[in-house]
Amino acid sequence: NIVILDCGSQYTQLIARRIRELSVHSEILPWDSDAEEVLRRNPKGIVVSGGPRSCIEPDAPRLDERLLRSGIPLLGICYGMQMLAHQLGGRVERAGAAEYGRARVERASETSALLEGLPASLQVWMSHWDQVTGLPPGARAVAVSEGGALAGFEMGDGRIGALQFHPEVAHTEQGTEILRRFLFRICGCDPTWRLEDWIDRTVEEIREKVGAERVLCGLSGGVDSTVAAVLTARALGDQLQCLFVDNGLLRKDEADQVMDTYRVLDLSVHRVDAGGRFLGALAGVTDPEAKRKAIGWTFVEVFEDVAGGLGGAAWLLQGTLYPDVIESGHQGKGASVIKSHHNVGGLPEIMKMKVLEPLRDLFKDEVRQIGRLLGIPEVFVARQPFPGPGLAVRCLGEVVEPRLALLREADAIFREEIAAAGLYNQLWQAFCVLLPTRSVGVMGDVRTYAETAVLRAVESQDGMTADWARLPYDLLDRTARRICNEVPGINRVTLDITGKPPSTIEWE
Ligand code: XMP
Repeated sequence: NIVILDCGSQYTQLIARRIRELSVHSEILPWDSDAEEVLRRNPKGIVVSGGPRSCIEPDAPRLDERLLRSGIPLLGICYGMQMLAHQLGGRVERAGAAEYGRARVERASETSALLEGLPASLQVWMSHWDQVTGLPPGARAVAVSEGGALAGFEMGDGRIGALQFHPEVAHTEQGTEILRRFLFRICGCDPTWRLEDWIDRTVEEIREKVGAERVLCGLSGGVDSTVAAVLTARALGDQLQCLFVDNGLLRKDEADQVMDTYRVLDLSVHRVDAGGRFLGALAGVTDPEAKRKAIGWTFVEVFEDVAGGLGGAAWLLQGTLYPDVIESGHQGKGASVIKSHHNVGGLPEIMKMKVLEPLRDLFKDEVRQIGRLLGIPEVFVARQPFPGPGLAVRCLGEVVEPRLALLREADAIFREEIAAAGLYNQLWQAFCVLLPTRSVGVMGDVRTYAETAVLRAVESQDGMTADWARLPYDLLDRTARRICNEVPGINRVTLDITGKPPSTIEWE
């Protein structure tokens, strides 16, 4: 297995993910972990991550000398490269300007264990300020950037390798190939690790962590919390108690469908119908962040009320994924909060519970794969994401039941047409939004003054960026006709043709 020493990079989890994709097990440890700790794991290789610091500063992260001399293959990425260079006797300086984004590098040596067989010129992703300006004694340059700056070096037969760019980021075109060379040629790893192993290990970890204590889980009806619950139920059996709060902001028939799935999965779930309370909290609220906060607080209140009656649990289980951790600004100092995701933070502090987040290091597609392995039905696993605050952030203006009813009907029609066209699995999301604007229409010689629906369909890899989907005209035409004919109260249908950025996927 591989140890990744984390020096604070926003990409550390991405390194772990790429290594998982190559069927090798890895473990992330803080950079200042005791060397004995690291050596006890008997790693076949050590990756030193990037990080925000400058290795010239006196208290910056450093590699323990015992690891440096251990003979275990080392790969330093970005900060990791600068740190290795610095500690091995090279020179590191602050460059005049930071280098950030796509860049090209040229291979600089015939013999490079990391780059062997790759094209002479590589497209890579850079994100750094400091620069290695002098090679350590005995090292050879293996890559240089267009401006001539050092972009990678190796020592010996590649046992020590260092790259200024990020092979783990998708924009580095040969990144996976570079990591493949490190894992299999340099470290001699076997590609034997499977997601099933992740499940077994995580089940063990949950048992160790929780012991005989009780765990409470708030199920949202989404893939993430469901996978977290099924996994935890496998570890703890009936020490886990699940709550499903129907906030009245779900899509048409969704609450019943979700409960049916939980029955199939043998999860014991207590359902609370709290739609009235949520609508009460949303009365008169039109500002998007205020809506999210009102929903978040109501969720906490309902949860506290009901959880009290279920008997004390010491742990709260949450289906937090890695991208949620990043978007809510919980990772990295000064990260900006784009939208408050109410499934991160808040509740556990108030209820004085410990948090169990078994999916915290994973990405959505990995969670879906794990869901399949756990036997969760495909229709459920393949569901498109749905935001925690539900239809409230798709019902612009005030959220009141009659408008929610319109939105639910229009949304069901659009999703039905998408499914009938066989497009459901190709889209990241497809849904309707209801605007706070009425407009004039004419239906059967009668003037109407009614609401406007927007069709929103996007393609995306991870929800962080998205492109609007080019849907067939006849599908759009059928959807618009059906909505106006079948949903009295809507007389106009429009299409959202913006990507993210500059828009977000949801409208609020
Ligand atoms: P935006 O609108 O920020 O959304 O482009 C990106 C993805 O996240 C989903 N989303 C949420 N998911 N709680 C969630 O669990 C939330 O508060 C939330 N807000 C947005 C959105 O549906 C999209 O897939």
